[in-house]
Order: sequence, then C-alpha cells, then structure tokens
Amino acid sequence: MGISEAFHNKIIKKRRIIEDFGEHKYYKQVVLMGLFFPEEWVEEVRASNDIVDVISDYVQLKRSGRGFFGLCPFHNEKTASFHVNPESQLYHCFGCGVGGNVFNFIMAIERLDFYEAVKLMAERAGIPLPNTMDVDKFTRSKKIRDQMYELHKEAARFYFEILMSKEGRKALEYLQSRGLDKSTIKAFGLGYAPDGWETIKTFLKQKNYPEELLIESGIVVKNSNNRVYDRFRNRIMFPIIHPRGMVIGFGGRVLDDSLPKYLNSSDSLIFNKSSTLYGLNLVRKQLPIENLIIVEGYMDVISLHQFGFKNAVASLGTSLTREQAKMLRRYAGEVYIAYDGDTAGQKATLRGLDILQEAGCKVKVMQFPKGQDPDEVLRKYGPEYFKKLMNNALSLVDYKLEQLKNEYDLNSQEGRTGFASAAARILVKLPNLLERDVHIQRLEALTGFKSRIIYQEIERLERNDASKGVKEKRIGNNRLDTAKGSLRILIPSNIKAERDLIALMALSEENAKKILKKLDVQDFEDPIHREIVSIIKKLIESDKEVNPAQILNYVGDQDKIKKMVEIFTLQIEYDNTEKYMDDCINEVLLSGLEKRRQELLKQITELEQSEKVDPVKYRSLIQELGEVNRKLKTNR
Ligand code: CTP
Ligand code: MN
Repeated sequence: MGISEAFHNKIIKKRRIIEDFGEHKYYKQVVLMGLFFPEEWVEEVRASNDIVDVISDYVQLKRSGRGFFGLCPFHNEKTASFHVNPESQLYHCFGCGVGGNVFNFIMAIERLDFYEAVKLMAERAGIPLPNTMDVDKFTRSKKIRDQMYELHKEAARFYFEILMSKEGRKALEYLQSRGLDKSTIKAFGLGYAPDGWETIKTFLKQKNYPEELLIESGIVVKNSNNRVYDRFRNRIMFPIIHPRGMVIGFGGRVLDDSLPKYLNSSDSLIFNKSSTLYGLNLVRKQLPIENLIIVEGYMDVISLHQFGFKNAVASLGTSLTREQAKMLRRYAGEVYIAYDGDTAGQKATLRGLDILQEAGCKVKVMQFPKGQDPDEVLRKYGPEYFKKLMNNALSLVDYKLEQLKNEYDLNSQEGRTGFASAAARILVKLPNLLERDVHIQRLEALTGFKSRIIYQEIERLERNDASKGVKEKRIGNNRLDTAKGSLRILIPSNIKAERDLIALMALSEENAKKILKKLDVQDFEDPIHREIVSIIKKLIESDKEVNPAQILNYVGDQDKIKKMVEIFTLQIEYDNTEKYMDDCINEVLLSGLEKRRQELLKQITELEQSEKVDPVKYRSLIQELGEVNRKLKTNR
C-alpha cells in the first residue's frame, strides 16, 4: 500500500511549515510528529491540563498570593521555593531555577520525552490521540468550535443591542426594577431575546452560519416536525462566559411568573453545564482573591458584584461537581456557600460541599433567613449585613452538626443516642484532632454521653472504615514559607527593557501586536529574547493564541526554557503600562542606534586609516552616521 497523494501533499505542506520555523528545534518536533500530533491539538492538551492540578498530584501546594508554593521536587529543600502560577500556567523554582509549562514538568518528573509527556497529558484529560486520519477530523471540530464561539458572541451582542433599543424597553425596565444599573448590565452583557420565533435564527443565517451549526450550538431548536425556531423568546438573556472570555451559552429568564422561569442552552461542543461556573470570567480579573462566594443563581451573582462582592460565582442551580470544585480551588482556598436557606440543607447540596472540601477548599456555610437568597438579602438589608453573615458563617462540620441536631429530638434518650452516633460519623472525617476535641466536648454537653465514650465510638468507626479501605483525603498541615524573590542581578538597561517587553508581550496579545509594530526580531539584542519574539511573531501571524505556556511548546532546550520562565514570571506592574511599554521600546531602539553609531565610527576610522579610501563607501558611511545621529537626537 503506497502513500496516497493527499497524504503526500500533507507531508510536503508540513515540511514547508518546518522550514518556516527552522530555528526552533521543538517546533520541528511538534510538527514532525504533527503528522500525528497537530500543533493545535498539542495546545489543546496543554490548555486542558491545568498546571496546578497536575503538579498537585506530585507536590503538596499551598496557596499564597498570586499562586501556589510547595517543596521543590527537583532538589532537596526545607523551605518551599517551588512556585506554580495558575495565570501564566508555568512553574518555577526560586531555589534551583527549574521551570516550564505543564509538559516540561511532566517530562522532568516522569523522565519522559516531549512526545510521551504530551501523550500522557492527553490521556489524563481524556482527549483522544489523533491518528493520521484524525488530523483532519480534529481540525474540522476545532473549526466548528471556533465558529460556535463566534456565533455566540454575535448573538450576545445582538441581544444586548435589542435590550438597549425600543424593542427591549420593558426588559430593561424589568432589570432596573430589580435594581441593576446600566454599568452592571453592561459588565455582564445582559440582553433581551424578543418575542418572535425566528429572530436570532434569521439574524445568524444572514451572517452565513449554517442552520446545522445553529442547531448544534443550541441557540435554535429543531422539533419533531423539523421546524427550526429560536430557543429563547421573550426572555432576559444572561450570556455564560468561559474564563478565557468566549461566550459559550446562555441562560434566559422570563419577565414575569410564567414557567419555566429559566431556560439554559443545551450542552454542546463548547458548553458543559456541569463544568461551568457563571461569573468566573469576571472573578478572574480580580485575582488574587482570598475567598469565593458561591451562589445558586444568575441574579445572585450579578447583585453581589454590583454591591462590590466581586468574588461571586454561581453553580447555576445544580449541586457542585468535582470539576467545578477543582476549578474553584484554583482561584481561592476558601469558599463561602451562599445558598438559599432551604437548599443548603438538601442532601445533594451537602454532597456538593463535601466535594469542595475534598478538592482542598476550606468551606464556610452562610445562613440566610428562610426562603431568601443573597440577592434578596442584599437588597433588603444591604452589604454590611451580608458581610456580617459572612463573618458568622459556619465551618462545614459545624454546619452539618447543626443540621443534624434539627433532625433529632434531643429531649428523648433515643434522639440523643441517634444524634451522638450520627455526629460521630461526621467527626470521623475531621482530620484535626484538636478540632475534633472541641466538638466532642460540645456533644458531651448536648447528649450526656461521656466524651471518652464518644472518642471510642469515633475510633471504632475509623477502624471500620480502614478495614473497608475507605480512604479519607487529608489536607496536609505542612507549613510552607513564602519564597524569597529571585536574586537581582544587574543587567544593562536595554536588555532589561527587552526582557520587560517580552514579559508584556507574553501576557497580552494586544501588547505583543503593539510592540511588534515598532520593533522587529533583529532589534532585540539578546539571542533568547530574539527567539521568544520570533515565536510570538509566528504565533500571531498564524492566528494562534499567544500565552507563555504555549510559547514554551516550541522550545526544546531546557536551559532556554529556564531562562524564558524567569522572564514570563516577572511581575511587571506599572500604573501606566502603555507609557512603560513606550519607554522600553524607545530604550531598545536607542540602544540599537547607539550600537550602530559605535560600529559606524569604527568603520569610518578604519577606512580613514587605510591606504586607499573608497570614496563611495566612505560617503555612504558618513551619510548613515548622520542619519543615526539625527535619530538619536530626536528620540532621546
Ligand atoms: N435554574 C434553572 N432553571 C430553572 C430554575 C432555576 O436553570 N427552571 C437555575 C438558574 O441558574 C437560576 C438558579 O437555578 O439562576 C437559581 O434558581 P432560583 O433561585 O429559582 O432563581 P434566582 O436566581 O433567584 O432568580 P430570580 O431572582 O430571577 O427569581
Ligand atoms: Mn432570586
């Protein structure tokens, strides 16, 4: 069986890309394997394996400020200097200097090559390995997803426009009657879907989106009679936004008491309700945060944000899943549950809270007046009162014991016995013995059982669990010290400017584009800087996302990666980034000019001292020197 022509062409095409990227060894490797591993697929694998999650399997990490610290697994140390940054998705050890993205970590710790590390991470994320045949399939599905993001964005804009137009007047009035101001409405991108059967359908079809795609993305519905119509009619629209900024779905609320009150997009290639949290995109902008507030509904999140609690997200009416819990853990170590009084006690909800704790979150349960949700409480009693409820929030154990107490009649012996044994079941899961003791003392007072007896009961349960193989995840109590900043080394100001520019470019594509308008690869003096800039440039030119972790996909040399991570983890914070950027660009340009001037002077002197002066060359050198001098003068 020979190679088909199509396959052959594909190889040729790949070769061309490789030649384009000639200088980057690893890029070559990705693309070479690209016959099997398309680079978009590699990036998808990387983005689907959160670095904090992955490293947590190897290193006990503790949240601190913007990231997580732990003991470096690559060298012996007693104080934690190993840092993992969830924003840049990079790790870095201030002690021994190692660093990189999630692939580099796996390569180092599992001693795998790049290819194997990518494969392992694909398996971990449940992403099927593309075989040669699947390359096209993957590219196609990626294209469909991109189109879906695009159409959701357009739909959201459309709904927003309508809300702000005459047609949306009663919807806007409704939102205002619920206390939302214009800036809040804008921040959340709220909208209005008018009362027609084919409004959004017509709008999107005019934009050339195929009907199939509209159906698949759930924005329209196809019924059994093959009629295709708008899913959302006469509803307030809440765009659901991925933390990375894409609109992935909608919730729609009626304007009155009719049912169903809310309608949500169906799950699709880009939307999965059980792994989504409403409001996370806005919370992301607040990082670092100490804690999160989890509520049930859209309106609760929006209200909280408007009242200044910008760390609120909603689980959208369902009980929390493992995926959501893990996501939350990445943002904050402490989570306040702010559910309606009546839901918080429900079994399904309690399971959700256990899941949160298992994910390593410290859980606090807020208690609301019966039948009221955070939105109502805020409106009725104000933010100070809400703050007070936060301060009075119960720990998960306290909350469970409180719930349990209500289930038994403590006036009867039977009730007291039942309560004590059920309570022991809860306490067995509490790893901290001192905390346990506090509860046992209280139980003694409540039930009349001697604390010694309660201890024995807990121990019995513990033995039972152990023999059944029940393993409780214990949250460690390692004390981690914050690492000291890396050593400051004196570097020339133009190199520092280059370095800071690169850090800014890696963080934001917008910055990168701006900088590349004024500087080119050759303007950078340091070879590593040049390499990074050329990768960024290629990424932009081929319309790929620019982020630090992705850049590292294209670098093979461990030492280079180390140096790059150091650059990417720089924290450049200036009141006026624009101005700082301009200053750095200027610095780089000036230093380039200055170097050129020195070189010209040297050449001119050499020429003057030679036996026979070439007049044409001499004149051109002098002329260039004049230009360089002029530029230096005007730019300084
Ligand atoms: N929900 C849903 N479908 C429904 C009802 C509720 O998806 N039919 C979800 C929504 O995400 C909603 C959340 O569950 O925001 C909480 O429901 P509820 O407390 O009834 O709504 P509120 O958010 O309080 O909405 P409002 O204040 O507008 O009545
Ligand atoms: Mn409500």
